Amino acid sequence: MNIYERIKQDHDHAREVMEKLKETTARAEKTRHKLFGEFKLDMWAHHKVEEAVFYSYLRDNTKMSDDSYEALNEHHVANGLLEELDTFPVASDEWGVKFKALCELMEHHIEEEEEDFFPKAKKLIPSEVADLMGKRFDARKKVVLAAIMPIDEDDLKAA
Ligand SMILES: [Fe+2]
Ligand SMILES: [Fe+2]
Repeated sequence: MNIYERIKQDHDHAREVMEKLKETTARAEKTRHKLFGEFKLDMWAHHKVEEAVFYSYLRDNTKMSDDSYEALNEHHVANGLLEELDTFPVASDEWGVKFKALCELMEHHIEEEEEDFFPKAKKLIPSEVADLMGKRFDARKKVVLAAIMPIDEDDLKAA
């Protein structure tokens, strides 16, 4: 799986979870907690690894630098909203409104990456490098996710 396919795999999953969460109401506290908890960690890890593996390669290329900085700024805003939603009571209508605002940003960002950024990047990144980047992305995402996962009783028993 090359870097474009691997990133798109995460995007497709994110789209699916966002649709599910958008359908929930303030009464679906458990579902919101569970789905959002996973979504938040997955997006944080996605942004970090995307920056380290994909954007770091393109950022210094003059043809891509403006687009790269715009994308990195969107990651920053999205991460902040994820943080805010994480500490805001899920059993409220306000949470749903805030979550929809995050979805609008994420959907715009994901679409721009796939429709605008990927075609430009494909002209600059040799295909064998794109294949290697896909493998690196996958390996690093697992490490980052494992590192930020909240600790549970099993972790403590194993210590
Ligand atoms: Fe991104
Ligand atoms: Fe992305």
